[in-house]
Amino acid sequence: MSSNELPLNLFEYELCADQQLSVMARDYYASGAWDEITLRDNRAAFERLRLRPRVLVDVSDRNMNVTVLGQSLALPILVAPMAFQCLAHPDGELATAKATAQMGTVMILSTLSTKPLEAVATASQASTATPSPWFQLYVHRDRGLTKALVERAYAAGFAALCLTVDAPVLGQRECDRRNRFALPTNMELANLAASTELEIPHRFQESGLFAYFLEQINPALTWNDLEWLQSLSPLPLVVKGILRGDDAVRAVEHGAKGIIVSNHGGRQLDGAITTIDALAEIASAVNNRAEILIDGGIRRGTDVLKALALGARAVLIGRPILWGLAVAGSSGVQHVLELLQSELDLAMALSGCARLQDIDTSLCCKGSQSSTAENKQ
Ligand code: GLV
Repeated sequence: MSSNELPLNLFEYELCADQQLSVMARDYYASGAWDEITLRDNRAAFERLRLRPRVLVDVSDRNMNVTVLGQSLALPILVAPMAFQCLAHPDGELATAKATAQMGTVMILSTLSTKPLEAVATASQASTATPSPWFQLYVHRDRGLTKALVERAYAAGFAALCLTVDAPVLGQRECDRRNRFALPTNMELANLAASTELEIPHRFQESGLFAYFLEQINPALTWNDLEWLQSLSPLPLVVKGILRGDDAVRAVEHGAKGIIVSNHGGRQLDGAITTIDALAEIASAVNNRAEILIDGGIRRGTDVLKALALGARAVLIGRPILWGLAVAGSSGVQHVLELLQSELDLAMALSGCARLQDIDTSLCCKGSQSSTAENKQ
């Protein structure tokens, strides 16, 4: 690819981003836990599914608007929470926020951002019609610090609180361990800088983030704490990291308005079920009592279509956003979202769906077990 040609798809973005990122940043973004079985399988599971298109449907006038937690989005694709975006580009989370707002969708800002949440909220305001971002929360051992974060997010105009529940401790990503992952000295945990520092304690031969979790994040969090969290602000609660129908039901019973089917991009429990394989059971257990979103391995418009067919209201995109950010800052993030949007539009047209409501379970089925690699032999 010559330097003035734009990547054609998200996979090409990954190749370009690899050339821009430091080894430590690339490994941190790319890695999964232990043997990376879940990381690989998230992707492979989408490739195993097949579509059952309807024909002779008038698809001349297509529309992918969707309402998520009461906000109107121009596409059923949100930006997943991801830490330390200044590792990809100096404008970090501000660039992501600007591009996401430009596209008319929601960014979920990580607690572990390298730009302060107030500045990200401001950067998210493309116009009065732009949806407000959500704030992802890691519950710290220090309840006062956690409460202050929620109050700041509410005051800054975030529209929902997204609680990550799959990380009582951090998964073991061996690249980060080898690299002794740490933030460069010119970056900080911008939402927490006043109270904590991300440092590698010398007693650990470890990733600094792994050590941070051990020291700062509360591993004793349970369902009972959701009531306390919801008492801190009027923000609707979205629970991220659910992989079982019974847990999804528990989340609804404890007040969650949204559920994100996620295995943290394969970065937490290796061997965990893929998100697209977990989705149908969760959608059926929840039975429309909460909105269901999904992330993990989505790289094509057809993947979005499959996720919507199996019960998701919208999807979250993670790593490809960082690739766009690394390659071209805000315009790279916007282009990544545009690529997925136009692929979804085409996939809808080719499967006889003019609107998102036309995408139903019958559109998607299991494919044969033979993999692409076997077919090529
Ligand atoms: C942070 O949330 C990470 O998974 O690295």
